[in-house]
Order: sequence, then structure tokens, then C-alpha cells
Amino acid sequence: MWTPIVLVSLIALTSNLVQGQPADVPLDPIASRILREALADGIDLAPFNFTAPALQEIVAWAHFDAEKSDIPADLLRPARNATTVDVHAHHVPNWFRTIEPSDGGMPSPVWTLESQLQHMANQSIGRSILSIPKPNIFLGDKNATVAIARLLNENTAALVKVLPNRFSFFATSALPYVNESLAEVKRAVETLGAVGVALTSNHEGEYLGNPQFARFFAGMEEMKAIVFVHPANPLMETAGRPCVGKSNRVPSGESQFIILQPWHRFNACRHTKGIAEFFFETARTFMDLALSRTLQNLTHLNWIIPHVGGSLPSIIDRSIREDTAAIMEAFHTRCWWDSAGITYAHQLGGLLAYNISPSFLLYGSDWPWIPAPLVDPAFDTIATSPFLDDAQKQAMRSENVKRLFEGKIEF
Ligand SMILES: *[C@@H]1O[C@H](CO)[C@@H](O)[C@H](O)[C@H]1NC(C)=O
Ligand SMILES: *[C@@H]1O[C@H](CO)[C@@H](O)[C@H](O)[C@H]1NC(C)=O
Ligand SMILES: *[C@@H]1O[C@H](CO)[C@@H](O)[C@H](O)[C@H]1NC(C)=O
Ligand SMILES: *[C@@H]1O[C@H](CO)[C@@H](O)[C@H](O)[C@H]1NC(C)=O
Ligand SMILES: *[C@@H]1O[C@H](CO)[C@@H](O)[C@H](O)[C@H]1NC(C)=O
Ligand SMILES: *[C@@H]1O[C@H](CO)[C@@H](O)[C@H](O)[C@H]1NC(C)=O
Repeated sequence: MWTPIVLVSLIALTSNLVQGQPADVPLDPIASRILREALADGIDLAPFNFTAPALQEIVAWAHFDAEKSDIPADLLRPARNATTVDVHAHHVPNWFRTIEPSDGGMPSPVWTLESQLQHMANQSIGRSILSIPKPNIFLGDKNATVAIARLLNENTAALVKVLPNRFSFFATSALPYVNESLAEVKRAVETLGAVGVALTSNHEGEYLGNPQFARFFAGMEEMKAIVFVHPANPLMETAGRPCVGKSNRVPSGESQFIILQPWHRFNACRHTKGIAEFFFETARTFMDLALSRTLQNLTHLNWIIPHVGGSLPSIIDRSIREDTAAIMEAFHTRCWWDSAGITYAHQLGGLLAYNISPSFLLYGSDWPWIPAPLVDPAFDTIATSPFLDDAQKQAMRSENVKRLFEGKIEF
């Protein structure tokens, strides 16, 4: 039944393979190094039409001198009181925005270094830990996912090197592809300087407690990794009915890359997914991590849970009824809760009611997905929160995160 589809793919791929290196790859040793090292790791970047613009962006950062740029000097250096560390901040490379024009029902925002630094100045943020947790734009397409993960890691690493005292980054994994992810994350941490790994709540519809990810987490445990989890679109399986994937192979043209893609992005209700679904996604995946005992068994992992847990706190009693002492121990000692979004008015109270110590709260802005006009109201709810005293609010912005990243980031 699939023969015609397989044939179309093969013809498309073969014509790409003979074509060799993509056009427009910058003639720069950095681009050649990236292509060469990827190939040595079994990742052929050549077939994809996002490779050339990605390499152009990486090469541009590698040669960027912030001091000589027209970014105002007072943005490059943090103000003396800019002691906040932002653990939930996203980098959106231009080439990535092209292949992911929207996410969670919201358009992908334009990201520039200057606007990032302006945001940091506005919020007294000294350091942002950047992440792009979702490389599998082309669902079911393993080679594309692995290629995007590699290019994102190289891209964010190159950017971080421009201002290493202002930025760190979380590695992008290639999940759901476990072997490739183990290799990619290890490389990003050991050779590119990532300080942890960013995952999404589900990877092609599988939540993080799924047994298929057990070997991945065992590898993260060996690395004593910090795992930042980000909500994603929920996916609905469509019983293996084929969908036509977006084409991403060079040359771009009539031949579409067709792939057996049994998922459909769905929205359970009519509201923007980034608002309605994301909070349930966080709850679902941490419930899954608890019920599969991943949280309890892997005692060297630290988790950053976004949006002070999303809707997780309100379901713990009902849905997590076995092994509760060990689960609560994990929540109390190895889970850290970021403030991203407007979460401090009422939601924080639900979390703290589980005797979570305020010393495990971290600051997150969700910039630039939370745009400038919403960042201030979000921070106002922190400033006026009845759940924390001033010292606890201050610690949430800087001391707590230093405990978590001790030995990984020089603050
Ligand atoms: C995926 O990449 C491998 C290694 O480069 C290659 O052998 C294989 O044909 C590719 N598969 C597809 C479906 O593109
Ligand atoms: C840092 O100083 C600036 C300018 O005086 C002020 O607007 C800002 O609120 C201060 N930030 C913190 C975290 O105290
Ligand atoms: C920074 O603050 C100024 C003044 O409130 C505001 O106009 C601007 O949009 C903010 N920029 C960012 C990137 O947050
Ligand atoms: C992943 O690696 C393991 C062990 O290294 C191996 O047994 C397994 O076959 C690999 N899986 C795939 C899909 O390549
Ligand atoms: C890649 O190819 C697709 C389909 O042919 C096209 O829509 C897309 O714009 C191309 N992307 C780039 C970055 O050229
Ligand atoms: C956790 O440990 C239990 C008991 O040793 C074991 O049965 C279970 O498979 C483990 N699960 C994971 C995800 O490590």
C-alpha cells in the first residue's frame, strides 16, 4: 500500500544525495566544520533546505562582535542590580521561525539580540538560560528532527559565546529518537557547554514517563542533568492514516516529502493551545513521570517544571495515589518551579500547599513568547504575591537558581 509513497521519498532523496552540498552554505570554516562533524556522527545535513540559512546564522554569530555592533553599551553590560536569572527564555533563530511559523496557536515571535538584552535590562535580568525545546517540526521524520536538533544546538551555542556572561543554554534533544538524543545531548553538554537539557511535555504524542524514554533518562541520570520541561501541542493519533508532511528537502519544488504521519495537532477546546492546553500538558507529563517512577528512581536528576507546575498541583491527590511518599520527596527535593506567565496571583498558593519550599522557586519570563506588554503584569503578580515574603521573592530571582546550577554556571 505504501509503495508509491516510499518511491516518491526515495526519488526525492536520491536526487538530493547526488546534488551534494546545499547551495548557499557559507564558505566559512565554521560551516564546513559543522557539516563534517555532523556527518561523522551519522547526521547528513545536506538534504534539508533549512541547513543553509541555519549555517548562515551560525556563522554570523560566530563572527559577531557585540562591542563593535550598534547595540548600546549599557545593554551589553548588566546593571549592578541585575541579579535575576531567567531560566525560562527562548531563542528563536530566523531559520527556525521559517519552519515553525507558529506554536501553540501563537505566531513565532521575532527574536533579536538587542530586544533580548532590552528585555533583560527592563526586568533586571543578569543572565538568561535560553532554550528551544522542540526540534521535531516534521513529525515522524527522524532525519529532519536529528538535523534540526544539531543545528539548534550549534546555533544557540554560537550565540551564547557572543556574551557568555549574559547567556547560557539548555541542549535540544532529538526525542522521540532515543539513541540520537543521548548522543546529541551529551555532545551539546560536553563540547558546546549546554547546562542541561530542554524537553517538551510530549514527543510525537508520547509523554515523558513512556517506557520508550527510559534509556534516555538513564543516560541523563548518569550525566546528573538538569531537565527543563516545556509544554507542547497535544497530538492525536490518527490510526496510521498518512498525512503529507511539509517538504523540507532541497531542492524545494514540486516533490513533496511524504511520510507516514499518524498524528494530528489537535485542540480540545476552542481556545489558544498555548493558553488552554499547555497547563494540562505539564500536569500530564509530570503525572506520567511519577506513575512510571521515573521521578522517584532517578535521584540525580533535577527537573525544572514550568509555570509553577501548570495544573499539576490540583491533580496530585486524585491521580497520584501510589508511592506518594517517594513522589512527594521528589517534588520537594529535586523539582524546581519556574514563574513563567502570570502564575503568582492564585496558582502559586496551590503549589505551596503541598509543602513545596519557596527555596525551590525560580524566575522565568517566557520571553519572547510572552511579549513585552505582558511581562510587566506577570512580574507585578510576583511583586504583589501574598504567598511569599520579600526575602523569598528576592531568593526566587537569584539565590535559588545558584544552588541548582552550582558547578554548571559561574555566576
Ligand atoms: C536518513 O539518514 C541516513 C544517514 O544519513 C540515511 O542513510 C537514510 O537514507 C536517511 N533516511 C531518510 C528517510 O531520509
Ligand atoms: C534596578 O535599578 C533600576 C533603576 O534604578 C530599577 O528600575 C529596578 O527596579 C531595579 N531592579 C531591582 C531588581 O531592584
Ligand atoms: C522595555 O521597557 C520599555 C519601557 O517600558 C518598553 O517600551 C519596551 O517595550 C520594553 N522592551 C522590552 C523588549 O521588553
Ligand atoms: C539504540 O542503541 C541500543 C544500544 O546502544 C541498541 O541496542 C539499539 O538497537 C539502538 N536502537 C536503534 C533504533 O538504533
Ligand atoms: C523548503 O521547501 C519548502 C517546500 O518546497 C518551502 O515551502 C520552504 O519555503 C523551503 N524553505 C526554505 C528555508 O527555503
Ligand atoms: C523504577 O524502579 C522500580 C523498582 O525498582 C522498577 O520496577 C521500575 O521499572 C523503575 N522505573 C523506571 C522508569 O526507572
